[in-house]
Amino acid sequence: MEDDNGAMTLAHWPLFDLVIRTPRLELREPTDPELAELADLAATGIHDPDEMPFSIPWTDVAAPALQRTSLQHWWGKRAAWHPDNWNFTGAVFVEGRPVGVQGATAQDFATLRAVKTGSWLGRAFQGQGLGAEMRAAIVHFVFAGLGAQVAYSGAWHDNERSMRVSRSLGYEENGITIELRRDRPDRMVNLRLDRAQWEARRRDDITISGLEACLPFFTGAGW
Ligand SMILES: CC(C)(COP(=O)(O)OP(=O)(O)OC[C@H]1O[C@@H](n2cnc3c(N)ncnc32)[C@H](O)[C@@H]1OP(=O)(O)O)[C@@H](O)C(=O)NCCC(=O)NCCS
Repeated sequence: MEDDNGAMTLAHWPLFDLVIRTPRLELREPTDPELAELADLAATGIHDPDEMPFSIPWTDVAAPALQRTSLQHWWGKRAAWHPDNWNFTGAVFVEGRPVGVQGATAQDFATLRAVKTGSWLGRAFQGQGLGAEMRAAIVHFVFAGLGAQVAYSGAWHDNERSMRVSRSLGYEENGITIELRRDRPDRMVNLRLDRAQWEARRRDDITISGLEACLPFFTGAGW
């Protein structure tokens, strides 16, 4: 069943009704057909094949395996959802179509009040300010909606666009770690946005709907 916004409603799984809206885009959990659209979008290319912006090189897989492994990944995260270890697949919708993903994950959120975010856009949708807008949406959601105290992100040292998005929202560098990038060691720049830093730039044009029924999924109270 679909509501007026095209979102899917499903008894016992209110996450499909959770929508974060900014003037330019919406974030919500995608339906299966929308996941398939996202998988096809990823297969058209997210980055130059010489580059690897992700920690896990999932985009090195050729189609159609890329679409299948992407679906398995998203289904797996949904199937394994637990308040102690959740992964919100925030599909980014512009004019009703999915253009990328702005996700958030957390372990022991009720105690730690900390989340980590990750994102990508289809190539045709990059470089238009959507990256900053979707990150603003997810940080609004976790701080204003869930009561987070800190949001973490990370980018390889040469991922200038991702780091600019973080800096524009007030994130500060939180140390460098050496991690595997494809099969080689490289420098990951860790980034941190504290609640006070978010409050200082808080926007008043981002809304969250359908949250109340979902709170147990994120905080565990009433799960
Ligand atoms: C990273 C990503 C989500 C950013 O989204 P985006 O919509 O392309 O970025 P924006 O248009 O909001 O631009 C972000 C900043 O980068 C700048 N920028 C845009 N294109 C750039 C380029 N080719 N090189 C350097 N900076 C660039 C913009 O001017 C902006 O900076 P500003 O805030 O100082 O003006 C998107 O580019 C993407 O999906 N990249 C591939 C996957 C990826 O890197 N994911 C993140 C992994 S950590």
